Amino acid sequence: MCGILGTVIHDGVNELRETLITGLKAVEYRGYDSAGVAILGPNGLFINKRAGKIAVLEDHLGGDVLSGTVGLGHTRWATHGVPSDNNSHPHQDFRERITIVHNGIIENYAELKQELMTMGVEFTTETDTEVAANLIGFYYNGDLPAAVCRAARRIDGSFSMCVMAKDQPRMLIGIRNKLPLLVGHGPGVTYLGSDVTAFLAYTREVTYLADGEIVVIDGPACRFMDWRTGEPVVKQQERVEWDIEQAQKGGFETFMMKEIHEQPAVIRQILERYLPSEDAPVYLPGLDDFAAERETRLISLVGCGTAFHACKVGKYMLEGLAGVPCRVQLAHEALYHQAPIGKHAVTVAVSQSGETADTLGAVRTQSAIGSPVIAIANVVGSSLTREADLTLYTMAGPEISVASTKAFTCQLTVLTLIALWVAEKFQRKPPEELKRLKTELLGIPAKMELILESKYTLEKLARVYRHVDHFYYLGRGISYPVAMEGALKLKEISYVHAEGYAGGEMKHGAIALIEPGFPTCLLAPRSNLVDKMVGNMEEILSRKGEVMVVTNVPQRFADYDVHVFPFPDCPQVLSPLLMSLPLQLFAYYSAKLRDRDIDQPRNLAKSVVVE
Ligand code: AGP
Repeated sequence: MCGILGTVIHDGVNELRETLITGLKAVEYRGYDSAGVAILGPNGLFINKRAGKIAVLEDHLGGDVLSGTVGLGHTRWATHGVPSDNNSHPHQDFRERITIVHNGIIENYAELKQELMTMGVEFTTETDTEVAANLIGFYYNGDLPAAVCRAARRIDGSFSMCVMAKDQPRMLIGIRNKLPLLVGHGPGVTYLGSDVTAFLAYTREVTYLADGEIVVIDGPACRFMDWRTGEPVVKQQERVEWDIEQAQKGGFETFMMKEIHEQPAVIRQILERYLPSEDAPVYLPGLDDFAAERETRLISLVGCGTAFHACKVGKYMLEGLAGVPCRVQLAHEALYHQAPIGKHAVTVAVSQSGETADTLGAVRTQSAIGSPVIAIANVVGSSLTREADLTLYTMAGPEISVASTKAFTCQLTVLTLIALWVAEKFQRKPPEELKRLKTELLGIPAKMELILESKYTLEKLARVYRHVDHFYYLGRGISYPVAMEGALKLKEISYVHAEGYAGGEMKHGAIALIEPGFPTCLLAPRSNLVDKMVGNMEEILSRKGEVMVVTNVPQRFADYDVHVFPFPDCPQVLSPLLMSLPLQLFAYYSAKLRDRDIDQPRNLAKSVVVE
């Protein structure tokens, strides 16, 4: 959940303050409880670490030039120990010879700590990371790679770490077990980062570390090994397609607003790649071969948070369009509940980051019983894409805001394309119906643009509800998971309590909360369920609750005292792609009016890489 960064200057000494702060800001979305830097230079080792955001650290650093040969940076999402200056990274061993930054959890830290204490090691923080620093320090006798490998073999848990020693002014070690770490090869500088955005401002040439690998960066030299066996590993350098502009705000006030506005463009891009025209068959690279090798009787979709909601929408698409039975599970539930599925059930794991620990765990559980895995992922080279049998990329570009927006609609687009691909390949729908749906799908980006043009209507609606503390979102059928996603968006960035319900469930309990002024957002796309949603609305209005309707049949609600946000007409199966935008914008303006930190909401981190 933390962001880590390391730099090694190949020759001479460089100013490192700017590099570290720029890189840390780019990965701040991974955690923002505290931040710190360490710089090893001609004047020795300099460390500064502070509770709070990177801006607090920057204030403490002042304008001083901080030159060095090796640098470390860290932005933290606290697991062990409260966010404080002392618990912030980097951490050192008690003799101050070793300095490390760490992402992950050391599960056996208590017993290791006890063992080290009996040998005279003193601890000053509440963190598990300090245990790792001391373990490496304990084994260190001048051979840093050997000490790091030896310590890693004693650690249970997930970690990626960057390690430097005070007496090794050109050396930096990166080590990976279950959490991402990659090397950036820049001119005159080598970088380590928990994701590519950490050094994207300087280089796009990367090498991904796999689990069980260690990299030893020694000036310009870079060698990889298996840290369990010490055997050398030959790695391929790759070029990432993302560029630095994509990872910047580009004139928008927040990343979230930028990412909301990027949706028409990124979905156009997906469609250009996978569905160039309504007359072309859907092309999903690798899916033909994948399907030819297996008989699929069930699709088991897993994900967390927003990705879970995408899975739930996907079930309606895959069952409705393609006639494939689906089950959907929260990944952390799938992890501990072994359903009786086997090799005829294909697991579809949905994840923006491709690093969510629960989703990776569920994939491992399901592949252990023979289920082949398709990943729908955004981050190229992420752990999920390495473990899956096939990856379909969502191509949304970097999503920096903690609240997921464009990743969600890109996931929905890929799921729609899979459903269309199956329907087409196995003739589950008449060709003319499929062609009509493809035409409609190709028209979605332009309709999204129309919704974005009416965004100020949603700002006005957010003003209407600016003082409420609770919100219901209701949908039926495919709109039900969209309601859940709308509620999650409002909750996570505005801190207003919100729940997404299936409309039919209201009478079974939830309606008890309706009283004068209690607000409900109804999702009513054109479908056979509109009358049912009108029924929900009447029940709420008769109890003097307030209603806001997101609909593409606004005339159906014209005679009622409700707020209506109309969206362009489309087939019901595509309506989640359009309805998501007003819900994102409503949550956005609600958060803004409450003066929330929209891109970095409290207690959250972008990638949840620990269970
Ligand atoms: C959504 O706004 C959240 N940031 C969160 O629910 C997120 O979707 C979830 O943690 C899953 O992340 P992933 O897609 O990277 O696996």
